[in-house]
Formats: sequence, C-alpha cells, structure tokens
Amino acid sequence: MENVRELMEQIIDAGTLIDLVLSYVRKKDPEGFQKVDVRPVMLKDGLYYQFTYHYKNKATHENMAPKDAVDKIQDLLGNYFRQGQCFTREGDYQILISKKFKVNILKKSPTKTMKDLSHNRRKKYIIPENIPNPFLIRLGVMNEKGKVLANKYDKFRQINRFLEMVADVIPALEDKGEGLQIVDFGCGKSYLTFALYHYLTEILKLRANITGLDLKKDVVDHCNEIARELGYGNLEFFVGDIGQFQGKERVHMVVSLHACDTATDAALVKAVEWGADVIFSVPCCQHELLPQIHNEVMGPMEKHGIIKERLSSLITDSIRANLLEIMGYATQLLEFIDMEHTPKNILIRAVKSDRIPKSAVEEYKRFKAFWQINPYMERALGEKLQKRLQG
Ligand SMILES: C[S@@+](CC[C@H](N)C(=O)[O-])C[C@H]1O[C@@H](n2cnc3c(N)ncnc32)[C@H](O)[C@@H]1O
Repeated sequence: MENVRELMEQIIDAGTLIDLVLSYVRKKDPEGFQKVDVRPVMLKDGLYYQFTYHYKNKATHENMAPKDAVDKIQDLLGNYFRQGQCFTREGDYQILISKKFKVNILKKSPTKTMKDLSHNRRKKYIIPENIPNPFLIRLGVMNEKGKVLANKYDKFRQINRFLEMVADVIPALEDKGEGLQIVDFGCGKSYLTFALYHYLTEILKLRANITGLDLKKDVVDHCNEIARELGYGNLEFFVGDIGQFQGKERVHMVVSLHACDTATDAALVKAVEWGADVIFSVPCCQHELLPQIHNEVMGPMEKHGIIKERLSSLITDSIRANLLEIMGYATQLLEFIDMEHTPKNILIRAVKSDRIPKSAVEEYKRFKAFWQINPYMERALGEKLQKRLQG
C-alpha cells in the first residue's frame, strides 16, 4: 500500500486533486458507507479536503487538513475499498487493490477541470444575508439575527436580482441637484420599493425621493406606516390610478413591477412623457391584445388557448420594447427571476438614449400590420409617437 500513500501524498502536496471516488467495498455492510467522495474545499483558514460518506439513505461530511486527508485515504483504501478513481489536474488514476492487497495503479490523460473551490459558494448579494437589516426584518424577510426566512428566500433573491439590474444603470441617472425622483407604479406591498430606497439612500448614499402608487388604500396605509417606522423620510405612498397620476414634472426613474395588464402600458407611457432616464417594468397578466391578434399563417398557434395566451404576452412585450426604442430608449428584455418561480419573468429595462435604431419604425409597422393590432401604448402616446412613425 506504500505506493498508494506516495501517490496520494504527491497529489495532495501539489494541490492538484479534483475528485477522488472510493468504491467497491471490501466487506459488505448494509449499515456502513458504500462509497466515499473526496474533494478539495477552500475554507476560511485554507485548503481542506471534504470527505463525503455515502450510506444507503444518507450522506455525511467531514473536512480534513491535507496531511490528515492522506492518512484517511490510505486507511479507507487499505481497509474498506478496493477501488479509487482519482481525478487530478495532470491525470486520471485508477487505483485497484486485489483481495490480497496487491495494488495496481493505471494513469490516463486528465478528463476533469478544477472548479471554484470556495466551500461557501453562495452568491454575493447587494444586500447580504446574515447581517440584520432593519427594513428586511420589518418586512418579515429576515429575522433579528439576519437569517433569511426559508419561505422568503425567493423574495430575498428577487430583491437582490432587481438591485443588481438597478446597479448597472446608476450612471444613466442624471441628478441635476434636485435629488433623484422615482415613482413605483403598482407598488403593492412594496418589498422592492423599500429595497430600492435602502439601496439608493443607505448603501449608495444618494439623495432620492420615492413615491409608491397603488389602487389599494389598505396597502398604501400599511406601507406609509412602515416607512415612518423605518425613518424613511423621502419614501411616500399614495392611493391612485397609474393612468391618472399627476403631480411630478421631472422623474428620473419609473418602476412598474407586475402591474396588471395595460397598467404596465400606462406606466411606460407616463415614463416616456416624463422623459425618465431609466425605466424598469416587469409585465404581469396580459389581456389587451389577446382578442386582437390574428394572422392566418399563425393558425396552428392561435387555435390553442394556452399557446395563444403566451403568444399574445410575447407580442405585447415585443411591441412595448419596440415602441420604447422608437421613443428614444435603449431597451433590453432580461430574465428577472428563474422561470421555475413564475412565468412572468421578463423585465423590460429601458435607458434614455440619443440613438434610435433605424429599423425600429419599419419593424413596428410591419409587426403591427402582421398581427392586425392596435396597442394601448400607441393610442396613449398619441401625436408624439405619430410624428416619429411618420418622420
Ligand atoms: C401583483 S402586485 C405587484 C406589487 C409589487 N410591484 C411587486 O412586484 O411585488 C400589482 C399591484 O399593482 C396594483 N395596480 C394594478 N393596476 C393599477 C393601476 N391602474 N394603478 C395603480 N396600481 C395598480 C395592484 O393594486 C397591485 O397592488
């Protein structure tokens, strides 16, 4: 067994181990482990090796310093297993041990590459977990110790995802000394509104006023109460309908996340009328174009309700993006959160731009004629859009 020890010492000293799989148990024991995996893992105080013991219905882990790992591997190969598949950066080794402990080692070219060794490979979030954050505690996303509650983890991830998308466009916000003016249309319970306020004012230390608008008075009252408790003096909530909203002249950012049907279009139109620097919108349910869309060629898609509904949502979001481009916005459609959580996962991010793609107007006209549609945004944008369509 000395040559096994030598080989393992050499691999572990060189730090080239990727994965070692020990299998083919010498003495069958249904209660005992059937297989052991050994992988390098980077912990706070350096490189360790993680042993994963696979039992019939469970797996246990043990981390070991390099020297102990060599002893352990030798013990496991000497007493429990007859085979080791060892993948390293410079070659794959097959270690075979006979009934009589005769060792045979075969070497082949490497087939695996080294991955990130960080044991705690959790994503680094803009708002970190495990650090108590008053607004997240108040909203019930984390507890007093900063632990994110299991049933709020998706929300926590969504908040951070949204902030990452905001972070990318901060340079596009043009504050000429008045402080950033932001409106969140259809803010609902306002997790993302509070998060945005926290990010801009407490993390980035920017001056920002955020107005949340929603149709529901009880929700608005509740959000105002939380804002007061948190001392968020420039975050206010009002009851109102997006389409009727008045009272702001300059708005730097418009947010509208999951506002229903044409409420999303109303928010986009408001944003364009204000000439907002940045627009974020995650459309929700879509009804407006569903009864309008028709093209004979698309018959096989139109005749199935479920397909037609999805088709109509995609057409609507494509039209929204196309019209934003025509109105002078560089527009991206991004995946907001994993499809597995909700199919409503397209985020429209539009940033004011001087360059309108030449093709945008022609694309719009062709697309509109193809589907025989008359979208809300075109009607609501009125003359401003018509000038661009004709010009
Ligand atoms: C699904 S919730 C989304 C809440 C929040 N934006 C989010 O993403 O978590 C949609 C909210 O939009 C509001 N809403 C729908 N149509 C609206 C309109 N025309 N004007 C104002 N708010 C509206 C609803 O009352 C509801 O609270």
